[in-house]
Amino acid sequence: MKVTIVGAGAVGASCAEYIAIKNFASEVVLVDIKEDYAEGKAMDLMQTSSLLGFDTRITGSTNDYSKTANSDIAVITSGIPRKPGMTREELIGINADIVKSVSASLIEHSPNVTLIVVSNPMDTMTYLVHKTTDLPKNKIIGMGGALDSARFKYRLSEALDAPQSDIDGMVIGGHSDTGMVPLTRLATRNSVPVSKFISKERIDEVSEATKVGGATLTKMLGTSAWYAPGAAVSSLVQAIACDQKKMFPCSALLEGEYGLSDLCIGVPVILGKNGIEKIVELELDDAEKSKLKESAEGVSKVNDLLDL
Ligand code: NAI
Repeated sequence: MKVTIVGAGAVGASCAEYIAIKNFASEVVLVDIKEDYAEGKAMDLMQTSSLLGFDTRITGSTNDYSKTANSDIAVITSGIPRKPGMTREELIGINADIVKSVSASLIEHSPNVTLIVVSNPMDTMTYLVHKTTDLPKNKIIGMGGALDSARFKYRLSEALDAPQSDIDGMVIGGHSDTGMVPLTRLATRNSVPVSKFISKERIDEVSEATKVGGATLTKMLGTSAWYAPGAAVSSLVQAIACDQKKMFPCSALLEGEYGLSDLCIGVPVILGKNGIEKIVELELDDAEKSKLKESAEGVSKVNDLLDL
């Protein structure tokens, strides 16, 4: 199993580290445009191999895509992250050009690759890959909801004073501060609705904190987060690599599901060896449906900024 990660920055390197620690891939190739940067990150990570006990071979390359040939899975994290006060949408100009050229180079050397798009604005970047490549739709996956759901579960566990392993919850919709739809009605602690444990006001606070989860960390760190994003990407890679048939909210091309089409937005999908093996249609109530519709309108507006 060969995995390529383009962008050896904060998220890309963290993702490579978690993939290596989980020890399911034989090879991880890091690619970056900065001279020697990916090679340096790869060397640093390889020097943890005997300490952490993994056998994954990590190599780096400065923009030489021949090194990525025959990758099974590739992750695109190349691009600029946001700074405090910026929205993800403000990154579109620079990142669209990068994502378009990177996805073309990856597919040239690995025509059967499954792509995971991370660069922001992620739903629009995922849509861009659909529009500009010939990859089948099941092989183009945007990562956002897995991270947003992890942040939702963290916030719920804090509010309920419960371990995260007891909490289940999901965030669908666009990966933006205004687009996320945390499904509070369906969130549970050991199958019991969270509304049994905390007030509606507290649940609303959790929901709001989840939506600005990325912005909160960007303000604290001076740049966007990397541990949870890297861990979320590694979970998607593992689900595909190990054919786990696990369900995650991911940005997927919709063609009528949820009454939406011609955009990529976060919905629950089953991930296995074929990438997106199924889009799961939840029974949403009217309020949730209208939030998702509003979120989709926001994503479509950003898509309209693409030069397609
Ligand atoms: P970073 O700045 O630490 O790393 C980005 C790397 O991409 C840099 O090393 C840069 O040299 C490289 N790069 C730029 N252009 C390239 C090209 N054409 N080819 C190869 N490499 C290139 O940024 P960070 O924090 O790792 O974030 C990466 C992206 O992921 C950003 O767009 C950020 O907004 C996004 N992100 C998305 C998340 C999500 O949930 N979808 C979560 C966190 C970040």
